[in-house]
Amino acid sequence: MKIDAISIFPEFFDVLGLSLLGKAQDQKIIGFEAHDLRKWTSDKHRTVDDSPYGGGAGMVMKPEPWGDAFDEIFPKGQRPTIIFTTPAGIPFTQKLAADLATRSHLVFACGRYEGIDQRVVEHAGAQAEVLEVSIGDYVLNGGEVAAIAMIEAICRLIPGVIGNAESLIEESHNSGLLEYPSYTKPASWRGLEVPEILLSGHHAEIEKWRNEQSLLRTKANRPDLLAE
Ligand code: ADE
Repeated sequence: MKIDAISIFPEFFDVLGLSLLGKAQDQKIIGFEAHDLRKWTSDKHRTVDDSPYGGGAGMVMKPEPWGDAFDEIFPKGQRPTIIFTTPAGIPFTQKLAADLATRSHLVFACGRYEGIDQRVVEHAGAQAEVLEVSIGDYVLNGGEVAAIAMIEAICRLIPGVIGNAESLIEESHNSGLLEYPSYTKPASWRGLEVPEILLSGHHAEIEKWRNEQSLLRTKANRPDLLAE
């Protein structure tokens, strides 16, 4: 999978060189490139923003650098998926991550300030699959951290990125429930014991206990998931 990210702070994406995603890049499973939006400015100050039409606080990202960036990153005829990171987008979920993991080319457009001129989204829609996506109901200073979170969640679902594919099947959100609590050695630590059942070797009983714990945890932490 090819992934491009466009941002005025491309250095944010240096973290993708670490750990499993770094390894996946070395192995050419993922080809990642971060681009500086200011590359596509033409004035002395390399301006990317301007005041909003209609008034209001803050600045809006100008359309021209985005249009020129898209023209260069995916020439006409290619049809990537462009993800605009914005708190006004659709929610990013495990289901959306799994869907996006099947694409061959993702482009993350990371807005700053009060967002990007909406015509950029409209224009991109003619040449690409376009999604406006939010990682949660809170506001970040820009879309870079949101894009990094999405890239990690998507890429770990691509075959070959994670060594132990089985761990993908058994984790939180896959079944619609949260994952059960986990324990490791020692069995007794600072007066706290690992639940007896996990030491019993009774696989069917352990599975039953884990399912119950998943349900209890989901009820306590995410009752909205049970309602679904
Ligand atoms: N940019 C700022 N806040 C964001 C959020 N919650 N999700 C995606 N992009 C954002």
